[in-house]
Amino acid sequence: MSRPRIVVTRRLPEAVEARLAETFDAALNPTDDPMSAESLAEAMRSADGLLPAVSDRIDAALIATPGRRVQIVANFAVGVNNIDLDAARAAGLVVTNTPGVLTDATADLAIALTLAATRRMTETEAVLRRGAWDGFRPTGYLGMGLQGRTLGIVGMGRIGQATARRAALGFGMKIAYFNRSPVGPFDFPAEALPSVEAVMAAADVVSLHIPGGEGNRGLISAAMIAAMKPTAYLVNTARGDVLDEIALAEALAAGRIAGAGLDVYAEEPAVPAALLAAPNLTLLPHIGSATLETRTAMGMLATDNLVAHFAGRPLPARVV
Ligand code: GLV
Repeated sequence: MSRPRIVVTRRLPEAVEARLAETFDAALNPTDDPMSAESLAEAMRSADGLLPAVSDRIDAALIATPGRRVQIVANFAVGVNNIDLDAARAAGLVVTNTPGVLTDATADLAIALTLAATRRMTETEAVLRRGAWDGFRPTGYLGMGLQGRTLGIVGMGRIGQATARRAALGFGMKIAYFNRSPVGPFDFPAEALPSVEAVMAAADVVSLHIPGGEGNRGLISAAMIAAMKPTAYLVNTARGDVLDEIALAEALAAGRIAGAGLDVYAEEPAVPAALLAAPNLTLLPHIGSATLETRTAMGMLATDNLVAHFAGRPLPARVV
């Protein structure tokens, strides 16, 4: 039997591309240019499997491409909000993701943004870079220490727990969290609160770890941000659409909260001008899982999903 044809929409770490080329009739993307809707549709017609990234929209129209040959979409991500799962289900299209392998890298970045926000790193580095630093002052650039403060986790899944563990065991923070279904016990102290709003109100730092897409769109609304302490910080390494970005920018501009750190945006790669202009805000370009080790492990797991599918074996990480 000839080898399954796999279209890989973006460049992947070398070891992953080498394995894909060895295992499949793989169409790689050496230029790394994003694929247009038309070239994605062509891939749907000509390939057996698609390996897209979160930057590719696999919507109902694409899934309904006449003459579709693709049987499996092996997403290069744990989040699958770039894919219309209902349409995939209805069309009998298999969807897989990459859970687990990016937990530590993303939790590390949530802690990095927590430190960046609470220690005012972006704001103070900008002072230095524009030559405006006039030397050490005992009362200069004071931030907030983490010891004994409360980290509020919204979404206590794998990444929420890994972030909480780092904060509790590494930084001596108390953990308060909301999760839709009961979770735990954990190997660190943590208190479950009855609602997202209760977490927003209790926390000195709120860190978001819920999936994007329909159910959670705009969950962290103006009213939720208004429930935060004026001394508190907000960190988002999950998906941009869970947060009202303009409400956050307004809260920062008005000093209604102390600061924030974001790695994800609702309409990537666009970042609202209001956020770019907001004070006490660190903005990163969706790098939560961006270590060579992690991106390699994600690619290998996506490949494992494809290999298992075409061998007729159970899939390591099936979503649909
Ligand atoms: C990255 O954003 C992912 O969902 O894996």
